[in-house]
Amino acid sequence: MTNIIVTGGNGFIGSNLVNFLVKKKYNVINIDNNKYSKGSYLLKNLKVKNYKFINLDINDKKIYKILIKFRPDVIFNLAAETHVDRSIDSPKDFVYSNILGTFNILEQIRKFKKKYKKKIKLIHVSTDEVYGDLEKNKKSSELSPYKPSSPYSASKASADHLINAYARTYKIDVMISNCCNNFGPGQFPEKLIPTLIFNILNNKSLPIYGTGKNSREWIYVEDHCNGLFQIYKKGKIGESYNIGSGINLNNLNLTKFLLKIIRNKKILIGKKVKIKFVKDRPGHDFRYSLNCKKIRTKLKWRPSTNLSSGLEKTFSWYLKNYEFFNFFSKRKFFKRLGLTI
Ligand SMILES: NC(=O)c1ccc[n+]([C@@H]2O[C@H](COP(=O)([O-])OP(=O)(O)OC[C@H]3O[C@@H](n4cnc5c(N)ncnc54)[C@H](O)[C@@H]3O)[C@@H](O)[C@H]2O)c1
Repeated sequence: MTNIIVTGGNGFIGSNLVNFLVKKKYNVINIDNNKYSKGSYLLKNLKVKNYKFINLDINDKKIYKILIKFRPDVIFNLAAETHVDRSIDSPKDFVYSNILGTFNILEQIRKFKKKYKKKIKLIHVSTDEVYGDLEKNKKSSELSPYKPSSPYSASKASADHLINAYARTYKIDVMISNCCNNFGPGQFPEKLIPTLIFNILNNKSLPIYGTGKNSREWIYVEDHCNGLFQIYKKGKIGESYNIGSGINLNNLNLTKFLLKIIRNKKILIGKKVKIKFVKDRPGHDFRYSLNCKKIRTKLKWRPSTNLSSGLEKTFSWYLKNYEFFNFFSKRKFFKRLGLTI
């Protein structure tokens, strides 16, 4: 039986990944410090023998004890501070969780490998944001230079460098995934798509940063989980893999597309639901886009959900699980962050 640790398993992607792995009958331990929620909404009813939650910070040395007891074959490291606006207000938290947290996991794996002569695979979940801003029509491949611009992306880039250094110096079995923007069930309400859905359901204006021309590549979360799984199963140790959908859209067009999908579902949209341009984020990257030839050709992975059906499924989920929004502190999640002045 394969034992798997998922860190950050109470977060958006982590919860989806835990569900994905538990359904495949793996033994899964989820390590999360519950900083932003009371637990995972998606996992609250998960009461099965092959799943266990441990409330722990990834900076804690107790990780070593968990490795000894559980003997995982693989760790998916998703625990991180993830909101770019929050990283502008409190960069130190990002250094703590994203850099030092990853460092602690690497150190505990190194200690474990030395003492028990057993290797643990580490799949470190990173982001397309490490490649920085891109000009129109350009794409970042795994060989593109890192040019992070926010404290968030800089902390993710630093962690990636540490991972690669540990692979080379200590022969730790690591792989990195660099994924584009995710959307789907259970995403924290501070991110763009849940914010839009919440405001649409509450007859509120739709805040769009700057002129709404900032463009992102969007992937349905289940496709990301599947990509991570393929990396674990077929990926080559020491390599990085981009995970993208090829679907690029600016924020304005994404908002209009979401509104169209909701209208098609014959949902009445209130009069106050109008796009409202708000002050841009300082240093806001204009465009990210991934070249995913490597994962498509070498691991035969490709996404299976198009934008329309992904958004449709996402909206239906939030509608059905409206109480999800009450799971979080309103003061923390519905306040504008990251304006520097
Ligand atoms: N959401 C995206 O679009 C996206 C895209 C590419 C990569 N990623 C990466 O995927 C991972 C998960 O992202 P997400 O969107 O699910 O984020 P999220 O904010 O929803 O979840 C992160 C989880 O990590 C936990 N965490 C944070 N610091 C911790 C610490 N020190 N110890 C233990 N747990 C801690 C939080 O409590 C939270 O449950 C992150 O590493 C992120 O950088 C996200």
